[in-house]
Amino acid sequence: MNINNKRRTLLTGGAAAFAVGMIPKASFAADPVKIGLILPMSGPFASTGKQIDTAVKVFLQKYGDTVAGRKIEIILKDDGGLQPEITKQLAQELIVKENIDILAGFGLTPLALSTAPLATQTKKPMIVMAAGTSIIVQRSPFIVRTSFTLPQNTAPMADWALKNKIKTVVTLVSDYSPGLDSEKTFNKRFTEGGGKILDNLRASMRSPDFAPFVQKAKDLKPDALFVFVPSGEGVAVMKQYEERGLAKAGIRLIGTGDVLDDDLMPSIGKAAVGVITSHHYSAAHPSPENKAYVAAFEKISNGMRPNFHSVGGYDGMYLIYEALKKTKGDTDGEKLVEAMKGMKWMSVRGPVSIDPATRDIIQNVYIRRGEMVNGAAYNIEFDKVENFKDPGT
Ligand code: PHB
Repeated sequence: MNINNKRRTLLTGGAAAFAVGMIPKASFAADPVKIGLILPMSGPFASTGKQIDTAVKVFLQKYGDTVAGRKIEIILKDDGGLQPEITKQLAQELIVKENIDILAGFGLTPLALSTAPLATQTKKPMIVMAAGTSIIVQRSPFIVRTSFTLPQNTAPMADWALKNKIKTVVTLVSDYSPGLDSEKTFNKRFTEGGGKILDNLRASMRSPDFAPFVQKAKDLKPDALFVFVPSGEGVAVMKQYEERGLAKAGIRLIGTGDVLDDDLMPSIGKAAVGVITSHHYSAAHPSPENKAYVAAFEKISNGMRPNFHSVGGYDGMYLIYEALKKTKGDTDGEKLVEAMKGMKWMSVRGPVSIDPATRDIIQNVYIRRGEMVNGAAYNIEFDKVENFKDPGT
């Protein structure tokens, strides 16, 4: 329907009471705001898609599907998580055929990077809810991130290790950009503080077999093994750490919270006890906002525990709603991104804000210990770095 047809429909459909100048606005506001949500709903990273999709449902249940007088419509697309070209193609179709106003989702870094130029060309806000490589926000002025960055979550872990008698470390990361961000940040912070890196091990992202790497780490006898793997792969790492007896050999396991992803904690169980990780979210975060969120999430999903990706999705929706309130329902991409810059709110993870200079999220990074609570494994926060910006690499 073109605008003239729409005007006619409105005029004949009972909207004739509007002054002529008001008509375009009225017809504009009658359309839903369309959010194209692209997630890995299948494949090896399907847990990320499931977590974010569920979080969006929890959000809509709490805040409703109308904001600033406009109905919100979510169009979910499964990109399978592995092929950046597919993500980009889905984004293109959403823009051209579905006429979406906002792009959102992006489960892994390569998928976000491939789509960034499209956001710029079409001036569509692109809300990165999951991917964590530092450089992503620099790839388009229309990107705003509600997830985290690997340098942001890694630096506090290196600092904690230095303060806790860990003098030698072997790092093990997935061999792609977030892993390389994490490795570089850990190496830099840890060696600048006087620590020694014995080796940097990188596991293939597509077919990760962690056994030879964990064995190599054991043979090198470091004080600790530092690990980053993307969510979904933690169980395999933890199995190797246990089976190869690193804990018994006195080698501690430390890492970013991705390895002890809340989604996997029920499968990891007791192996998580004593593992120290740094991260921006734990399902055990002791705030009233988070308790309500976990309860609502578990209810809507028949008992699934929310993880950090879910929170990126939940806050992404919050950011979109608040920006739409500020623009009074105007979906112009530049206006929405402007409205998002500097936004501050109390997330279920703690206080957060969007850095107006970088469009990246500023948040607390918590140091947590794996513990059993009423028979279930949780990450219990015991220290934090407040309002921590991405330090870059
Ligand atoms: C990413 O690809 O950016 C990514 C995915 C999963 C994680 C962390 C980073 O847990």
